[in-house]
Amino acid sequence: MVMLRSVVRGVGSHLPERVMANAELARLVDTSDEWIVQRTGIRERHIAAEGETTSDLALKAAEAALAAAGLAAGDIDLIVLATSTPDRTFPATATAVQMRLGITHGVAFDLQAVCSGFVFAVATADKFLRSGSHRRALVIGAETFSRILDWTDRTTCVLFGDGAGAMVLEAVEQADDAVPRGVLTTHLRSDGRHTPKLYVDGGPSLTGTVGHLRMEGREVFKHAVGMITDVITDAYAATGTTSADLDWFVPHQANRRIIDASADKLKIPADKVVITVDRHGNTSAASIPLALDVAVRDGRIRPGHLVMLEAMGGGFTWGSALVRW
Ligand code: UT7
Repeated sequence: MVMLRSVVRGVGSHLPERVMANAELARLVDTSDEWIVQRTGIRERHIAAEGETTSDLALKAAEAALAAAGLAAGDIDLIVLATSTPDRTFPATATAVQMRLGITHGVAFDLQAVCSGFVFAVATADKFLRSGSHRRALVIGAETFSRILDWTDRTTCVLFGDGAGAMVLEAVEQADDAVPRGVLTTHLRSDGRHTPKLYVDGGPSLTGTVGHLRMEGREVFKHAVGMITDVITDAYAATGTTSADLDWFVPHQANRRIIDASADKLKIPADKVVITVDRHGNTSAASIPLALDVAVRDGRIRPGHLVMLEAMGGGFTWGSALVRW
């Protein structure tokens, strides 16, 4: 028997040129490098230039992922782009990327799950590819969160950054007695009761404005570790694996303390955890593919490695994806 699985062909990412260090934020709001580093692990983040859009970042990340995969844009028949900061209310940012890549076949759409967006997009693309309906997917997480921050609110503006990451997944037939490669399992959850803890106070239907991000950080923190470890435990149960089998843990990069506490609870050693929050801040849906790209390019993640992705964010939404590279 053979079965279709979604195998990773390549990853890529792109960051805006401008780097904003903590010291610069300390000139805008009542904060300090020391507070930000101690509470979050963040030292700097990238901020999009005026006029630089989510689709600009996504396009460059997609081109880098295609180059890494050795594929042309025309080989792609599915684009799933996760973002909470689309270029426009509509059409989808994914169709802007599709157009700018010169693709006129197949389908492109956006997906909205805030910081869990990339994991949700991987799960969605995987289900399309395994059904046989599509062959090669670009899965993108891209954000310009700087545009929805209240730059006078020190409790939120120090946490986020801009960027994009992309992954090419391809449907490949595998014998069911072979060691499975690609996306092995995905587990998604949501619970809208938590909306007041992390939300944007505007939107097209509610206010006719874009709005600003609002967060009760301590409340989010309280739930994060439990939710993250639950969906990872689900992934272990579905695949008969444990933390000892993992080569790499690539978590959503929101806060170093949340990452360390999750890894600790799951007994994943620190040297197997990919950390980029220090340099990127929280880039929401872009954070996991940005971290993957760093770890692939510096040679840490290699073919055959078992990689756990997880994220938790607004909604709340949370999810895991276990991938054999
Ligand atoms: O990616 C989506 C999910 N989002 C997250 O995962 C974020 C989760 N939450 C967090 O990462 C943390 O809760 C924060 C980093 C947001 C805050 O850290 P905390 O240790 O929970 O701090 P806190 O909110 O309890 O605030 C402690 C103190 C407060 O002062 P008082 O009330 O103790 O006098 C804040 O007013 O720190 C103050 N504070 C600041 N001080 C300097 C809050 N923000 C700042 C700041 N600089 N930027």
